[in-house]
Amino acid sequence: MAKILVTGGCGYIGSHTIVDLIAHGYEVICADNLSYGSTQRLDGIEAITGKKVKNYPINLADKRATEVIFNEHPDLAGIIHFAAFMSVPESVEQPLRYFENNLNSLINVLHFAQVHGIHNFVFSSSCSVYGQPDVLPVTEVTPRKEAESPYARTKQIGEDIIQDFAKAYPQHRAALLRYFNPIGAHPSGQLGEYATFKPNNLAPLITDTALGKRNSLKVFGNQYPTRDGTCVRDYIHVCDIAHAHTLALKHLLEAKNSPAVEVFNLGSGTGATVLEVLTAFETATGVKLNWEYAPPRPGDVVAVYADRTKATQQLGWEPKYSLSEMMNTAWQWALHLNNNLGGR
Ligand code: UD1
Repeated sequence: MAKILVTGGCGYIGSHTIVDLIAHGYEVICADNLSYGSTQRLDGIEAITGKKVKNYPINLADKRATEVIFNEHPDLAGIIHFAAFMSVPESVEQPLRYFENNLNSLINVLHFAQVHGIHNFVFSSSCSVYGQPDVLPVTEVTPRKEAESPYARTKQIGEDIIQDFAKAYPQHRAALLRYFNPIGAHPSGQLGEYATFKPNNLAPLITDTALGKRNSLKVFGNQYPTRDGTCVRDYIHVCDIAHAHTLALKHLLEAKNSPAVEVFNLGSGTGATVLEVLTAFETATGVKLNWEYAPPRPGDVVAVYADRTKATQQLGWEPKYSLSEMMNTAWQWALHLNNNLGGR
């Protein structure tokens, strides 16, 4: 059974990925200092898989602390690196904190991967590296644009660090996974997304509004050059994203990647407007949403959606969940959180 280190495994995508890895026969250890993640997610993982995952609550930006994991687990077959701060507005307010955390943790993990000969590395990147692309859908060779936030810049620099690392140490292989808009929750209702201290993503704001925690949802902008005037994004279920990590890891473990560092877009391949998402929520759940138009949000791109042909052809990845299922699972999770976990 191959042993995998998942950093940031108590986060939203990391925890769903651990569930998927365990379901596919991997042994997992986790490193998450719980700065944003939650130990409730370890309970959720155990409830779904029946396995208790060991977490090292250490700061990966601290080299000495990071070394402990590698000394205790010299037999790691691969690393999936999620650990990073991920709030765009917070990164604008605190750029140095974002650079320090996101880049140092990556550098430290790569350093020990090299020292211990752990050759397979999956990196959590983001479609935000593309900015507003000139041509849609976005393929992996679409040029990256100037980053629109320090958060997005940490993902661009992170990708570049891994490219340089693999050039210097050619036996190392990596997959850079560029997520589009992950939403939804595990169908068991045991794992999902927690609202951050300043929620700004659409799905948690929809469920908060449906629960009555917010009076109304603001739809940012209705004059965009799209089919209904609202922005287009590529929403993808978190379990589909999670499974892509398992497939990318297998691809690396079987040394099927060429070149050594490969980029994959993880999106559904189709875009949905904000109004289409609201309608999908209402239809899937039977819950009416109170919403109103508001001015465009500064920094929003008009439309972005993925060409996922590469992940489908090379990894065998086929997303399974519809927009309706994304909404339904997000709603079941929000209800569970509200009724059993005190809303957190
Ligand atoms: C955001 C991040 C991006 C990250 C992505 C996925 C920003 C600028 N970008 O992008 O880096 O990779 O999430 O986590 O924050 N919307 C509303 N009303 C709301 C909230 C959102 O109309 O109250 C709209 C937005 O204008 C957008 C869509 O819903 O068109 C999705 O918004 P969001 O979930 O924040 O994702 P992104 O903007 O794609």
